[in-house]
Amino acid sequence: MRIKKVTKAIFPVAGMGTRFLPATKSIPKEIMTLVDRPLIQYAIDEARAAGIKEFIFVTARGKSALEDYFDHAPELESALRKAGKEELLEALKDTNMDSGAIAYVRQNRAMGLGHAVWCARRLIGNEPFAVLLPDDVIAAEKPCLQQMIEAYAQTGGNMVAAMEVAPSKTSSYGVLDVADDMGSIVKVKGMVEKPKMEDAPSNLAVIGRYILTPKVMTNLNKMKQGAGGEIQLTDAIAEEALTPGKVFGFRFRGQRFDCGSKAGFLQATVAFALSRPDLRDEFGSYLHDLIALQTAAQ
Ligand code: G1P
Repeated sequence: MRIKKVTKAIFPVAGMGTRFLPATKSIPKEIMTLVDRPLIQYAIDEARAAGIKEFIFVTARGKSALEDYFDHAPELESALRKAGKEELLEALKDTNMDSGAIAYVRQNRAMGLGHAVWCARRLIGNEPFAVLLPDDVIAAEKPCLQQMIEAYAQTGGNMVAAMEVAPSKTSSYGVLDVADDMGSIVKVKGMVEKPKMEDAPSNLAVIGRYILTPKVMTNLNKMKQGAGGEIQLTDAIAEEALTPGKVFGFRFRGQRFDCGSKAGFLQATVAFALSRPDLRDEFGSYLHDLIALQTAAQ
């Protein structure tokens, strides 16, 4: 089987981020920072590490800060250069994308994740592509998408990142109907978007990393409304799952943070701060003292 290389990735970033109001009134959610890097930077770095060359952002009104973030900043760069701040110039490097590497398409109406992905159809053409949801931040030794690209080299077809969740949480996720559980790779025969606990086919949930075939884009052309009245990416992939061997789940190695929720965002902030050599000691001892104080007060 000859498997086409995945070089394009879609980043759906059109959401209004209402869970983080009032902050997101004027800042795109994806620009909110974990320590000192915006959420979107983590997703871009992960895609780059996996060999992605073309980055497609599906945006909406009010997201222009994202475009500026990935552009050069000549005044800032020359001021830093003059001041000899080499390490800060270095920190800016990851934000500079080659001309033409990023494309922006607008989703004019909020019609769901499937619709957002479909907005990029002309840029994808007839090629396999990745989708990364920046809300899902995954800390891993080997970046999650890279793990998936390696697994996909064996399976082909469509692949979604998957993780066991508590049965009571299935209504927050796309959930896999498993045909054959082979360990890290799972053959999938169906998928349901946000099922109630009693209707969920398993507790193996889809996490926001996908490798998809162009056929999924074609399925999205139908504009079928699914859960919540939205056009769901899950439904377009589920259509493929009806044919055996076309959809796989991948249990990635790493820790996923749900940065679409406040609690998840705070957990990620703490975990990333503690993993930083420049912050670990000071921040760690602060946390330690704080917990000791709280315990004493109880
Ligand atoms: C989206 C997908 C869902 C998936 C989830 C992962 O839902 O529709 O299938 O499980 O991302 O984070 P959202 O969280 O955008 O509602």
